[in-house]
Amino acid sequence: MSSQVQDTIKRITAPDIRARKGGEPIVVLTAYDAPTAAIMDPHCDVLLVGDSLGMAVHGMTSTVGVTLEMMILHGQAVMRGAKRAMVVIDMPFGSYEAGMETAYANAVRVMKETGAQAIKLESGPTAPATIEYLVKRGIPVMGHVGLLPQSINIDGSFKAKGRDEAERARILQSAHDTANAGAFSVVIEGVAESLAREITEAIDKPTIGIGASAACDGQVLVTPDMLGLFDWTPRFVRKYADLRGEIDRAVAGYAADVRARRFPAEVETYFSKKPASP
Ligand code: KIV
Repeated sequence: MSSQVQDTIKRITAPDIRARKGGEPIVVLTAYDAPTAAIMDPHCDVLLVGDSLGMAVHGMTSTVGVTLEMMILHGQAVMRGAKRAMVVIDMPFGSYEAGMETAYANAVRVMKETGAQAIKLESGPTAPATIEYLVKRGIPVMGHVGLLPQSINIDGSFKAKGRDEAERARILQSAHDTANAGAFSVVIEGVAESLAREITEAIDKPTIGIGASAACDGQVLVTPDMLGLFDWTPRFVRKYADLRGEIDRAVAGYAADVRARRFPAEVETYFSKKPASP
């Protein structure tokens, strides 16, 4: 066996994730660039190139402005960094809702140009038919129910969902339809524990929660949130680091050293070789 083949690490696949229903919790984080993806890869089952990159990386106020080209560019970077985790790429707003054929053409572009294993889309009313169409044509799909950030202009806020019986029933139905259409897993965002538990018990596909309690089969967080890059994060986020503070301290230290001519020091400087003595 060539060393190249021996060195190849087997990547986690959609069937591997599908088989984890009710088993060991599935670890998912968002990823947007190669170096961070390489650090996260050994620890995560799935790296999600979320359209949250609109806010987390590009400073947008919602995900609505994110384009297919942005998703592909960040997807390519993450695929270069991650060798083992499954990479799933979000379909951005406007790339899959107009019709199944457009959705298919755009999803094929994402898969071909990035090499990722699956796409994710938000399960609005037209999603189940699209999911079925894509899965039948060889594209693994992760669904997304509950709070749907791409619907911000309909909803008017990012508040948790399923607060009244009618909305709860709609979300439960949407989860059923998404799973039955062939999604290999379903993200549940921003719902109460009781609804997340009901969905997780009702569908035969793993659920991945974000702000949806420990009742789900796995968890996902937006990585810059859990690394403490922002001064505000939603209540459901646990901060595992204080990257904002670390970056602030590092940059302040660098600026002070440059201003005081303490950087660069001799060890950080190239010198020309002394000419050999005659
Ligand atoms: O875009 C994203 O990061 C997501 C997660 C919040 C699940 O969809």
